[in-house]
Amino acid sequence: MVYTSKDMIKKAILPAAGLGTRFLPVTKASPKEMLPIVDKPLIQYSVEECEKCGINDFVIITGKNKRSIEDYFDKSIELEASLIKTGKSDLLAEINTHLNSNYAFIRQSDPLGLGHAILCAKPFVDDEAFAVLLGDDIIDPDETLLADMIDIYETYRAPVIALQQVPDGEVSRYGIIGGDKVEDSRYADSVFKINTLVEKPSIDLAPSNYAVIGRYILTNDVFEILESIRPGKGGEYQLTDGLNALLQKRDIYGYLFRGKRYDAGDKFGFIQATISLCLKRPEFSEALKEYIKDLVKTF
Ligand code: G1P
Repeated sequence: MVYTSKDMIKKAILPAAGLGTRFLPVTKASPKEMLPIVDKPLIQYSVEECEKCGINDFVIITGKNKRSIEDYFDKSIELEASLIKTGKSDLLAEINTHLNSNYAFIRQSDPLGLGHAILCAKPFVDDEAFAVLLGDDIIDPDETLLADMIDIYETYRAPVIALQQVPDGEVSRYGIIGGDKVEDSRYADSVFKINTLVEKPSIDLAPSNYAVIGRYILTNDVFEILESIRPGKGGEYQLTDGLNALLQKRDIYGYLFRGKRYDAGDKFGFIQATISLCLKRPEFSEALKEYIKDLVKTF
């Protein structure tokens, strides 16, 4: 089901060049974007989230050792032939979900940070606004976060960033905003007008505990800003710093997401996402519940 009717946002940038250091050792040889939650790679969840909102053009920023992402979004002639030959044609639809959309791949030669990764997509994005989804953040497929953000973008015609409140101890893991709530009839208590953004501040320097989660609707003028920023936290070109600089030129809004999100780039978050999304699958749900009930008795 496609949620949004106006389909104003057509394109999404999916940064996938990170080294996956939080998930070593497996990411030494496998891209973290290809780690499976149940039977689909992480990046497929971002793609499906976009497709539900009428977004079908993807610019994927890859890096070294990420070739399997391109293979995943390509046809596999040999596999198809083998499935047909062995009478498993019913699986063809499952391996061809990429046919719903268009994909462009850009290789970020140096891992210089998220701001730099987004800038690599500049030649492939026209004047239009676009979405950015960070694949580590898995949003429960029943939520309508991205559709709501597009709706807010359509109201204000300004960039929109997804936020969640995090405990003080986690503030230094995120981009953190300062801002004021906007009175808004449809999204009462959930829309912020942002006045500052700081990448991964210590708690004493944090303007709030509203954290940027990996969903953004951005406007094209962010590219010019990203071209001019200096390296920030960790010596990397930070998207957060670019957005903070963009505040000098235009309003930016935050949308407080109160639904379910999993940080699948973190080992425990990945386990939580796997169990939760497995429990939503009718073919596994009852058996998994029974299994967990029995299992916990033995620990
Ligand atoms: C990135 C952003 C950060 C944001 C986070 C959300 O950080 O730089 O501002 O809060 O994603 O997941 P990363 O987790 O890639 O270090």
